[in-house]
Amino acid sequence: MDSFLIQGGTRLQGEVTISGSKNAVLPIMAATLLTADTCVIRRVPDLSDVRFMCDILKSLGAEVQFEDGTLTIRAALIRGHGDYELIRKMRGSICILGPLLARLRKAHVSLPGGCVIGTRPIDLHLKGIRALGAKLQIQNGYIRATARQLEGTMIFLGGRAGPTVLGTANVMMAATLAEGVTVIESAACEPEVTDLAHFLNSMGARITGIGSPTITITGVKELHGTQHEVIPDRIEAATFACAVAATGGEITIRGARPDHFHAVLDKLIEAGVKIDQRKSGMVVKPTSRLKAVDVTTLPYAGFPTDVQAQIMAFMCVVPGISVITERIFESRFMHVAELARLGADISIEGPSAIVKGGAPLSGAPVMASDLRASAALVIAGMTARGSTKVNRIYHLDRGYERMEEKLRRLGAQIERVEGE
Ligand code: EPU
Repeated sequence: MDSFLIQGGTRLQGEVTISGSKNAVLPIMAATLLTADTCVIRRVPDLSDVRFMCDILKSLGAEVQFEDGTLTIRAALIRGHGDYELIRKMRGSICILGPLLARLRKAHVSLPGGCVIGTRPIDLHLKGIRALGAKLQIQNGYIRATARQLEGTMIFLGGRAGPTVLGTANVMMAATLAEGVTVIESAACEPEVTDLAHFLNSMGARITGIGSPTITITGVKELHGTQHEVIPDRIEAATFACAVAATGGEITIRGARPDHFHAVLDKLIEAGVKIDQRKSGMVVKPTSRLKAVDVTTLPYAGFPTDVQAQIMAFMCVVPGISVITERIFESRFMHVAELARLGADISIEGPSAIVKGGAPLSGAPVMASDLRASAALVIAGMTARGSTKVNRIYHLDRGYERMEEKLRRLGAQIERVEGE
């Protein structure tokens, strides 16, 4: 397994270009199952999760080409039975359920497991699909879904922690080919869901209320091929912003959409980071007066759970006390123990982490537990004295395109050590 070796203490300086969004492209790839025509998707990040989704689509019978950031997918003849081992490995693959059911009226998809950030149930996905008239059976680790006809209806998709991103995506995709009108209440408003809705409309779907908590889908008989450019990855952009905030220096983030992560930018500004929108991109530079801030993760447009670990790494180096509260996933604090290895002073009280920042961090070997935790450890490692080895960075490769190359170009001393 690859690891990163980081020599800390270097300020970041220069320009970085943001890749296409992982969490937007995965459901968009699943949506190509809704048509027999060819779909062309641009600005696709080369990530292991994307490659994984390519394999899943191929296992269903689709023709998939991925070259220079462009995906060409033709799902002319497909079957509704996905490879258990492939699907089981990636939670995002649950979003093939809606499109398969809509297109074939049957789907046989393995249940995704829990993961390190929480139990991650799929009850809301199933509730929505059932409300459209499908019969569902959970058997031998599979969801078997069948429907003679999907019919539009009113579906409330709010859950314990608010709306569900992939649940909204799944139900919205299934409803595009249902008879009549479907209204999803308490729909997720994340930009990734919005991007999917625009993709579906460009295939001939009739979706309104895009980006709002009430999405209305008027079913159509069939969808056609299309071309689409994926939105930039707001989480990657936020990660680089947190990184320079923590290390010091000044970077220009090119290609990001600031309107997609206002909550993060607002917190960074509150903490004393200067952010300027220029023609060349977003210039991010911490001032000499940094202060600790409190953060609570919330559904969009609140502070994203996917940036909680990275802002915590930043707070570790800012003098003062910061309370970071996680409201989306129940156990998304696996990075805390690893940050502590670097000398961070963090205690956990229920859903909150209390960070006493400002003590210098010192390099150590650490273990990445999930994608965003890995990013936090890289940020912390870049601020620490001495060398930090971040093990198990396959998590990072799932969601950040060539992260070490991008950081090296900004002056970081980071290298990939293969196969350890
Ligand atoms: N939930 C339920 N029932 C469901 C579905 C979700 O109770 O049927 C709960 C979850 O347990 C959680 C909350 O609802 O407490 C929100 O989960 P959501 O369904 O929105 O998460 P997701 O769609 O499975 C996506 C991203 C995650 C991101 C979350 C929240 C993808 C592939 N994944 O997951 O991204 O954290 O939305 O924004 O889009 C990451 O990129 O590192 C990542 C984990």
